[in-house]
Amino acid sequence: MQVPGERPGAVLEADDHVVVRLQDRTRPLAWDLHYRVPTGGDLLERWTEFHHTGTAVDGDILLLRYASAHWPLPQRPAWRIGSVHGGWSREGCLDRSALPVGETVLGSRRGHTGHHANPWATLDAGEAGEEHGEVWNVALAASGSWRLTAQRTAAGRTGVVAGEGHEGIELRLAPGGTHRTAVSLALYTERGFGGSSRAFHHHLRTHVLPHPEELRPVLYNSWEATSFAVNEENQVALAKRAAALGAELFVLDDGWFRGRDDDRAGLGDWTPHPHRFPRGLRPLADEVHRLGMAFGLWVEPEMVNVDSDLYRRHPDWVLHLPDRTATELRNQLVLDFSRPEVTDWALAWLRRLVADNAVDFLKWDFNRSFSEAGAPGPVPDARRVHVEHARGVHQVLDRLRADFPCLRVEACAGGGGRVDPAVLARADQVWASDNTDAVDRLIVQHGFSQLYPAGVMSAWVTDSPNPLTGRVVPLRFRFHSAMAGVLGIGGDLTRWTEAELAEAGRLVRVYKDIRPVVQQGTQFRLLGPGEGPLTAVQYLDASGERAVVLVWRPGTTFGPPLPPLRLRGLAPADRYRDDDTGQEWSGATLMGFGLPLPDLPPGDCASALIRLRRVDGRGRSARPVRPDGPAVAHDATGIPNAQRPQRKEERGIG
Ligand code: DGJ
Repeated sequence: MQVPGERPGAVLEADDHVVVRLQDRTRPLAWDLHYRVPTGGDLLERWTEFHHTGTAVDGDILLLRYASAHWPLPQRPAWRIGSVHGGWSREGCLDRSALPVGETVLGSRRGHTGHHANPWATLDAGEAGEEHGEVWNVALAASGSWRLTAQRTAAGRTGVVAGEGHEGIELRLAPGGTHRTAVSLALYTERGFGGSSRAFHHHLRTHVLPHPEELRPVLYNSWEATSFAVNEENQVALAKRAAALGAELFVLDDGWFRGRDDDRAGLGDWTPHPHRFPRGLRPLADEVHRLGMAFGLWVEPEMVNVDSDLYRRHPDWVLHLPDRTATELRNQLVLDFSRPEVTDWALAWLRRLVADNAVDFLKWDFNRSFSEAGAPGPVPDARRVHVEHARGVHQVLDRLRADFPCLRVEACAGGGGRVDPAVLARADQVWASDNTDAVDRLIVQHGFSQLYPAGVMSAWVTDSPNPLTGRVVPLRFRFHSAMAGVLGIGGDLTRWTEAELAEAGRLVRVYKDIRPVVQQGTQFRLLGPGEGPLTAVQYLDASGERAVVLVWRPGTTFGPPLPPLRLRGLAPADRYRDDDTGQEWSGATLMGFGLPLPDLPPGDCASALIRLRRVDGRGRSARPVRPDGPAVAHDATGIPNAQRPQRKEERGIG
């Protein structure tokens, strides 16, 4: 929103939010601070718009460092900062450390959100726990380079500054020009880290996700089964087995296009591989549809191999600096998505691909970070690509989705390198990590859940031993681990035994039964990985009628019996029955004494799934409760009215 000509210091009511206009005393620069409280939540959104208010005689203004918002915190004797760190295949490692005096910087200089950090931080006075205590949470809706700086001064002041870009960012504002920052989000809760996560999940579902009302399909993905060696025959064989297990979406991953025999060639030339798919992709798509599944396809539109026709035609389209080598990573370079001719090209082939092949779902990948990233041109504004490349990606996704309203998207960046609130405004789910080891995954998923809901967290059951870690994990544990999010299967089904396929089919049926509770319910982290021998998570549906508990024991140790699991969010006076055993307990018992653990099989990697349903003592459902947040209105579909899809412009995250 622009408010040209307003007097400095004015506080304006703009549609659904407040704007404060400020004006530099000596330079032709004004900026508007925007504040918005989205309906029905405890969260505040802020962003800033800069305006060059001068004329040609003033020349351009270079923005070298700017932010979406500064979030001042109250005075407390001590502060602790929580965030996730990691790397490729070890995303989401949660850390909570004392905040020292000085500046603590989290960020990405890599042009994408990053595996090694995620754009959010929790601040607490060192006293909060999972379910109690004051927590302040700051996040940023940005998919390019970003920075969150938590500052604690010797005088006892603390605050967090959140914004796009990192060192060396240069954004040029011409006279009359405007730059709108990313949205920064913040919330305060007295309900601990769990309450903070649940409020964020609620916000993302209510105001950000394109289709929160939809249940995500059980997908099959070919990557770990066939790698680059995909062809029509082996994909049809996998599709038949996937459909028999109950998969609802079949995704053909990397390797399907011209020149793509390995990772050294092909990116940029998005037509079917003439030897592997001599009839094109349509016959496979038709067969997948005939088997009753949706058809999904992997793409990596932002990348190019030097060995490609696209690079031979447009070597100037890649990010580079004129006096530096453009370093290849995974043998690929990054196309400059801040340039309209590049995004127009991408949109054109994506439209053709989706339309010609009846594609229902795109997995949009991004497999290398920026290096020597620049956009050489007549003006020295190379570093704008750290912000504007990702905005170009957003635009392509928005335009594609507008053209194909039924198309669904999974965001991926070599695993979890592009998970953020901005990408979630245009992706239906995200791939959290390339590490599909079901034990390691519990750590990734724990970190993921701090900000993002289970209903967008894609998780696959793959082969054992796991290709990355070599760990042998029973099928049941692998399923239980992946059932904590959006279940997918990624193993080589042609090598699974009949017994494994039968067990997998049964577990897919169980998942479909619990799916509304897991994907759309409220999540309670009962025991985090490493807190003891067990890891456990509970989901409660919006009506409070159904609860699902997943419990994992990755390693076995000899010792005293494991204590009961104390559940959360139930109605103390009501009774809950185990769907599978028929045992019943009161809510007070389940929350106070705890749920007696079922017998876990001996040995490492044991797990259990418990499905509870509220009964009123006569086998009928009792009245609904809601554990967190404001009361939510429902209609006959059971979907909270507040979660109805909103128009994009209503959602505020652009
Ligand atoms: C990285 C992704 O995370 C994998 O799932 C797979 O799609 C590969 N890229 C394909 O190159």
